[in-house]
Amino acid sequence: MHGRPSSLLPQTLTVQLAERSYPILIGPGLLGSADSYAGLPRSRMAAIVSNETVAPLYAQALADALAARHERVIQVVLPDGEVHKDWPTLDRIFDALLAEGCDRQTVLYALGGGVVGDMTGFAAACYMRGVPFVQVPTTLLAQVDSSVGGKTAINHPRGKNMIGAFYQPQAVVCDLDVLDTLPERELSAGLAEVIKYGPIADPAFLDWIEANIAALRARDKAALAHAVRRSCEIKAWVVGQDERESGLRAILNFGHTFGHAIEAGLGYGHWLHGEAVGCGMVMASELSARLGLMPASFVDRMRRLIERAGLPVQGPPLGASRYLDLMRVDKKNEGGQIRFVVIEALGRAGLRAVPDALVVEVIEACTA
Ligand code: NAD
Ligand code: GLY
Repeated sequence: MHGRPSSLLPQTLTVQLAERSYPILIGPGLLGSADSYAGLPRSRMAAIVSNETVAPLYAQALADALAARHERVIQVVLPDGEVHKDWPTLDRIFDALLAEGCDRQTVLYALGGGVVGDMTGFAAACYMRGVPFVQVPTTLLAQVDSSVGGKTAINHPRGKNMIGAFYQPQAVVCDLDVLDTLPERELSAGLAEVIKYGPIADPAFLDWIEANIAALRARDKAALAHAVRRSCEIKAWVVGQDERESGLRAILNFGHTFGHAIEAGLGYGHWLHGEAVGCGMVMASELSARLGLMPASFVDRMRRLIERAGLPVQGPPLGASRYLDLMRVDKKNEGGQIRFVVIEALGRAGLRAVPDALVVEVIEACTA
């Protein structure tokens, strides 16, 4: 057989948002190919925003691919880690853009995982009241979730992603080859967000993930291509229906209410975001069962799959009252009531306010 297998041919999806619509390119070898950026805004200046881990691996290849589109491509290299998703680090982006004389046409390229993507997107939303940006996600998590949909933010010590903006990129370029250098723990973290799409939207995809979890962890390119494509299709569909999360989009936060409490409670960076979401999905599945919506076998199924993905399934012992306090700082809450994404039937999720006593039962059943 000659050429690439058809499952590895580059694919393009579209996030349909009228005048803010944009493509998601998925395939191997995209990051360093000038063709991947054809059709995007040309400008005198561009800035690649990355971090000290990812920039040495991929920034030069990206700069070379952009050379024909921009007279000057500067690099802004941030410290690595969730703990740096904050104001001082965001300011470093603004400092560099201003110091280099970047104008309102300057295009920002977010080269990295979700932390770089969320911060670069927020910087793009704010710099000179808005400049174009392109997502070039380099983690599985960023390729299947954070680079798509225009949620941008930094953390506040009192709560995750509390300061931010909805601001859509011009394009998302998912190069499957960059996943080769991703640490195993980060690959597992990305699988949490892949798994999420099954119970909330697509039971057949959940079956597929169960059958292919070993291939995904072994970084089989065809399996990764399918996982990224199906995840992006579902995310693009949800975002296309409800860009600003007035309703439906909240289902993408399945497992995140418990997960954000774990991340903030332990201090950002101890558990990875995907690890906290994985464990949070076990807890949200348990909650769905205790509400009588799903059978106990569903909780066992989710726990088993999340464990096979290499993720923790038991929450840290923060104590029920600390979990509750942390979950009270959540953007989904209304009128002081904590609201959880629960599974109502396989492939269908909804948002429910739940009595504290039931949440405490779940925390006690699911934490160490
Ligand atoms: P991350 O950005 O911290 O990246 C994980 C680690 O992998 C980092 O150390 C990074 O430097 C390294 N890395 C990245 N690409 C690499 C590569 N190709 N090779 C080697 N190392 C590489 O973490 P993440 O899991 O990508 O993103 C988590 C963040 O995303 C959280 O802040 C979360 O809140 C956010 N998020 C946002 C959305 C959204 O819709 N905007 C959705 C989900 C998550
Ligand atoms: N990751 C949640 C969202 O994009 O809405």
